Amino acid sequence: MRKHIVAGNWKMNLSEQEAIELAKEVAEMRVENTEIVIFPPAIFIPTLSKLNLNLKIGAQNFFPKDNGAFTGEISINQLKEAGVTYVLVGHSERRTILKEDNTFLKEKVNAALEKNLHVVFCCGEELAIREQGTENEFVKNQLNESLFHLTQEQIQNVTIAYEPIWAIGTGLTASSAQAEAMHLFIRETLSSKYTTEIAAGISILYGGSCNPTNAKELFACPNVDGGLIGGAALKSADFNSIANSF
Ligand code: PGA
Repeated sequence: MRKHIVAGNWKMNLSEQEAIELAKEVAEMRVENTEIVIFPPAIFIPTLSKLNLNLKIGAQNFFPKDNGAFTGEISINQLKEAGVTYVLVGHSERRTILKEDNTFLKEKVNAALEKNLHVVFCCGEELAIREQGTENEFVKNQLNESLFHLTQEQIQNVTIAYEPIWAIGTGLTASSAQAEAMHLFIRETLSSKYTTEIAAGISILYGGSCNPTNAKELFACPNVDGGLIGGAALKSADFNSIANSF
Protein backbone atom coordinates (compact mmCIF):
# COMPACT_ATOMS: atom_id res chain seq x y z
CA MET A 1 0.00 0.00 0.00
CA ARG A 2 1.00 3.63 0.25
CA LYS A 3 4.33 4.81 1.63
CA HIS A 4 5.00 6.69 4.82
CA ILE A 5 7.09 9.72 3.94
CA VAL A 6 8.70 12.29 6.21
CA ALA A 7 10.25 15.17 4.31
CA GLY A 8 12.27 18.12 5.57
CA ASN A 9 11.78 21.41 3.76
CA TRP A 10 14.85 23.41 4.74
CA LYS A 11 13.65 26.52 2.88
CA MET A 12 16.29 29.30 2.62
CA ASN A 13 18.23 28.29 5.71
CA LEU A 14 21.68 27.00 6.73
CA SER A 15 25.27 27.49 5.60
CA GLU A 16 26.93 24.81 3.48
CA GLN A 17 28.73 23.34 6.48
CA GLU A 18 25.51 23.26 8.52
CA ALA A 19 23.69 21.61 5.62
CA ILE A 20 26.35 18.90 5.35
CA GLU A 21 26.19 18.19 9.08
CA LEU A 22 22.40 18.10 9.16
CA ALA A 23 22.17 15.85 6.09
CA LYS A 24 24.64 13.40 7.64
CA GLU A 25 22.71 13.34 10.90
CA VAL A 26 19.45 12.77 9.05
CA ALA A 27 20.98 9.93 7.01
CA GLU A 28 22.10 8.25 10.21
CA MET A 29 18.62 8.23 11.77
CA ARG A 30 17.14 4.81 12.34
CA VAL A 31 13.70 4.85 10.81
CA GLU A 32 11.67 1.88 9.70
CA ASN A 33 9.27 1.76 6.77
CA THR A 34 9.40 5.50 6.19
CA GLU A 35 10.94 7.26 3.22
CA ILE A 36 13.10 10.19 4.29
CA VAL A 37 13.46 13.11 1.90
CA ILE A 38 15.28 16.41 2.34
CA PHE A 39 14.65 19.57 0.34
CA PRO A 40 17.81 21.63 0.87
CA PRO A 41 18.56 25.02 -0.72
CA ALA A 42 19.42 24.25 -4.37
CA ILE A 43 22.97 25.54 -4.11
CA PHE A 44 23.86 22.74 -1.66
CA ILE A 45 22.31 19.88 -3.65
CA PRO A 46 25.44 18.83 -5.61
CA THR A 47 27.58 18.76 -2.47
CA LEU A 48 24.99 16.77 -0.50
CA SER A 49 24.45 14.32 -3.37
CA LYS A 50 28.15 13.58 -3.58
CA LEU A 51 28.07 12.41 0.04
CA ASN A 52 26.00 9.42 -1.19
CA LEU A 53 23.86 9.44 1.92
CA ASN A 54 20.99 7.12 2.62
CA LEU A 55 18.23 9.61 1.88
CA LYS A 56 16.37 11.11 -1.06
CA ILE A 57 17.13 14.63 -2.17
CA GLY A 58 14.45 16.93 -3.49
CA ALA A 59 14.38 20.39 -5.03
CA GLN A 60 12.26 23.15 -3.51
CA ASN A 61 11.89 24.79 -6.90
CA PHE A 62 12.64 24.52 -10.64
CA PHE A 63 11.57 26.16 -13.88
CA PRO A 64 9.37 24.09 -16.20
CA LYS A 65 11.44 24.53 -19.38
CA ASP A 66 14.36 22.46 -20.65
CA ASN A 67 16.75 25.35 -21.23
CA GLY A 68 16.89 28.86 -22.61
CA ALA A 69 16.79 32.48 -21.59
CA PHE A 70 15.34 32.14 -18.08
CA THR A 71 17.75 34.16 -15.97
CA GLY A 72 18.22 32.87 -12.48
CA GLU A 73 16.22 29.68 -12.97
CA ILE A 74 17.26 26.00 -12.74
CA SER A 75 15.97 23.28 -15.07
CA ILE A 76 14.84 19.80 -14.16
CA ASN A 77 17.66 18.19 -16.13
CA GLN A 78 20.18 20.25 -14.22
CA LEU A 79 18.62 19.20 -10.91
CA LYS A 80 18.48 15.55 -11.96
CA GLU A 81 22.14 15.67 -12.90
CA ALA A 82 22.80 16.94 -9.39
CA GLY A 83 20.99 13.96 -7.85
CA VAL A 84 17.42 15.17 -7.32
CA THR A 85 14.56 12.65 -7.41
CA TYR A 86 11.77 14.64 -5.73
CA VAL A 87 10.38 18.14 -6.31
CA LEU A 88 8.04 20.36 -4.35
CA VAL A 89 5.29 22.07 -6.31
CA GLY A 90 2.70 24.50 -5.00
CA HIS A 91 4.21 25.38 -1.65
CA SER A 92 2.22 28.27 -0.18
CA GLU A 93 5.31 30.46 0.06
CA ARG A 94 5.81 30.13 -3.70
CA ARG A 95 2.10 30.69 -4.32
CA THR A 96 1.92 33.83 -2.21
CA ILE A 97 5.40 35.40 -2.28
CA LEU A 98 6.45 34.31 -5.79
CA LYS A 99 2.91 34.56 -7.21
CA GLU A 100 2.81 31.05 -8.72
CA ASP A 101 -0.79 30.35 -9.72
CA ASN A 102 -2.66 27.10 -10.37
CA THR A 103 -2.02 27.28 -14.13
CA PHE A 104 1.74 27.71 -13.72
CA LEU A 105 1.76 24.95 -11.10
CA LYS A 106 0.06 22.65 -13.59
CA GLU A 107 2.91 23.36 -16.02
CA LYS A 108 5.45 22.56 -13.29
CA VAL A 109 3.67 19.29 -12.42
CA ASN A 110 3.69 18.26 -16.09
CA ALA A 111 7.34 19.13 -16.58
CA ALA A 112 8.45 17.22 -13.48
CA LEU A 113 6.44 14.09 -14.25
CA GLU A 114 7.63 14.08 -17.84
CA LYS A 115 11.18 13.80 -16.50
CA ASN A 116 10.20 11.05 -14.05
CA LEU A 117 10.58 13.07 -10.89
CA HIS A 118 8.31 12.40 -7.94
CA VAL A 119 6.12 15.43 -7.20
CA VAL A 120 5.10 16.52 -3.71
CA PHE A 121 2.17 18.78 -4.47
CA CYS A 122 1.22 21.20 -1.69
CA CYS A 123 -2.28 22.50 -1.17
CA GLY A 124 -4.06 24.22 1.68
CA GLU A 125 -6.21 27.16 2.65
CA GLU A 126 -5.55 30.42 4.42
CA LEU A 127 -7.25 31.32 7.69
CA ALA A 128 -10.03 33.45 6.14
CA ILE A 129 -11.13 30.50 3.98
CA ARG A 130 -11.24 28.18 6.98
CA GLU A 131 -13.21 30.74 8.97
CA GLN A 132 -15.75 30.85 6.13
CA GLY A 133 -15.95 27.06 6.20
CA THR A 134 -15.06 26.72 2.50
CA GLU A 135 -11.70 24.95 2.89
CA ASN A 136 -12.84 21.77 1.15
CA GLU A 137 -13.98 23.58 -1.99
CA PHE A 138 -10.80 25.68 -1.94
CA VAL A 139 -8.46 22.68 -1.76
CA LYS A 140 -10.53 20.74 -4.32
CA ASN A 141 -10.14 23.64 -6.73
CA GLN A 142 -6.36 23.67 -6.24
CA LEU A 143 -6.26 19.96 -7.07
CA ASN A 144 -8.64 20.39 -9.99
CA GLU A 145 -6.70 23.19 -11.64
CA SER A 146 -3.17 21.79 -11.22
CA LEU A 147 -3.42 18.00 -10.90
CA PHE A 148 -6.65 16.49 -12.16
CA HIS A 149 -5.68 16.61 -15.83
CA LEU A 150 -3.15 13.84 -15.04
CA THR A 151 -3.72 10.28 -16.21
CA GLN A 152 -4.25 7.41 -13.78
CA GLU A 153 -0.65 6.43 -14.32
CA GLN A 154 0.76 9.90 -13.77
CA ILE A 155 -1.15 10.70 -10.57
CA GLN A 156 0.51 7.70 -8.91
CA ASN A 157 3.82 9.59 -9.02
CA VAL A 158 2.37 12.42 -6.97
CA THR A 159 2.31 12.77 -3.19
CA ILE A 160 -0.01 15.39 -1.77
CA ALA A 161 0.95 17.61 1.16
CA TYR A 162 -1.92 19.32 2.94
CA GLU A 163 -0.52 22.47 4.50
CA PRO A 164 -3.06 24.86 5.99
CA ILE A 165 -1.39 28.24 5.52
CA TRP A 166 -2.50 29.42 8.96
CA ALA A 167 -0.38 26.62 10.47
CA ILE A 168 2.86 27.10 8.48
CA GLY A 169 5.65 28.48 10.62
CA THR A 170 3.12 29.96 13.03
CA GLY A 171 3.27 27.38 15.80
CA LEU A 172 -0.47 26.79 15.23
CA THR A 173 -1.22 23.23 14.14
CA ALA A 174 -4.37 21.77 12.70
CA SER A 175 -5.86 19.46 15.30
CA SER A 176 -5.60 15.81 14.38
CA ALA A 177 -9.36 15.88 13.75
CA GLN A 178 -9.03 18.83 11.34
CA ALA A 179 -6.08 17.19 9.57
CA GLU A 180 -7.83 13.82 9.27
CA ALA A 181 -11.04 15.43 7.98
CA MET A 182 -9.16 17.23 5.19
CA HIS A 183 -6.97 14.24 4.34
CA LEU A 184 -10.06 12.04 4.10
CA PHE A 185 -11.74 14.65 1.91
CA ILE A 186 -8.67 14.75 -0.38
CA ARG A 187 -8.62 10.96 -0.60
CA GLU A 188 -12.32 10.84 -1.42
CA THR A 189 -11.81 13.52 -4.05
CA LEU A 190 -8.96 11.49 -5.59
CA SER A 191 -11.14 8.44 -5.43
CA SER A 192 -14.00 10.02 -7.34
CA LYS A 193 -11.66 11.52 -9.94
CA TYR A 194 -9.57 8.34 -10.37
CA THR A 195 -10.35 5.04 -8.62
CA THR A 196 -10.60 3.98 -4.97
CA GLU A 197 -7.57 1.78 -5.47
CA ILE A 198 -5.47 4.60 -6.89
CA ALA A 199 -6.60 6.98 -4.13
CA ALA A 200 -5.66 4.40 -1.51
CA GLY A 201 -2.13 4.23 -2.91
CA ILE A 202 -1.38 7.98 -2.83
CA SER A 203 0.44 9.29 0.24
CA ILE A 204 -1.04 12.43 1.79
CA LEU A 205 1.35 14.29 4.10
CA TYR A 206 0.49 16.88 6.71
CA GLY A 207 2.53 20.09 6.93
CA GLY A 208 2.23 23.09 9.20
CA SER A 209 4.09 23.33 12.52
CA CYS A 210 4.37 19.57 12.82
CA ASN A 211 6.80 18.92 15.69
CA PRO A 212 7.95 16.14 18.04
CA THR A 213 5.06 16.89 20.40
CA ASN A 214 2.17 16.67 17.93
CA ALA A 215 3.56 14.28 15.29
CA LYS A 216 2.41 11.05 16.99
CA GLU A 217 -1.19 12.16 17.21
CA LEU A 218 -1.21 13.48 13.63
CA PHE A 219 0.48 10.38 12.18
CA ALA A 220 -1.96 8.13 14.01
CA CYS A 221 -4.78 9.44 11.79
CA PRO A 222 -5.71 6.82 9.20
CA ASN A 223 -5.32 9.20 6.25
CA VAL A 224 -2.15 10.99 7.37
CA ASP A 225 0.80 9.24 5.74
CA GLY A 226 3.62 11.40 7.00
CA GLY A 227 4.71 15.00 7.13
CA LEU A 228 6.32 17.86 5.27
CA ILE A 229 8.33 19.50 8.01
CA GLY A 230 9.73 23.04 7.96
CA GLY A 231 11.16 24.54 11.13
CA ALA A 232 11.47 21.25 13.02
CA ALA A 233 13.45 19.71 10.13
CA LEU A 234 16.38 22.02 10.87
CA LYS A 235 17.21 20.20 14.11
CA SER A 236 18.14 16.57 13.57
CA ALA A 237 16.87 15.47 16.99
CA ASP A 238 13.42 16.94 16.31
CA PHE A 239 13.30 15.60 12.76
CA ASN A 240 14.37 12.17 14.01
CA SER A 241 11.66 12.16 16.62
CA ILE A 242 9.03 13.14 14.03
CA ALA A 243 10.26 10.50 11.57
CA ASN A 244 9.83 7.90 14.30
CA SER A 245 6.31 8.96 15.20
CA PHE A 246 4.38 6.27 13.34
P1 PGA B 1 6.58 24.48 9.25
O1 PGA B 1 6.68 24.51 7.65
O2 PGA B 1 6.76 23.05 9.67
O3 PGA B 1 7.72 25.37 9.72
O4 PGA B 1 5.25 25.03 9.62
C1 PGA B 1 6.09 23.50 6.86
C2 PGA B 1 6.26 23.82 5.40
O5 PGA B 1 6.22 25.01 5.04
O6 PGA B 1 6.48 22.93 4.56
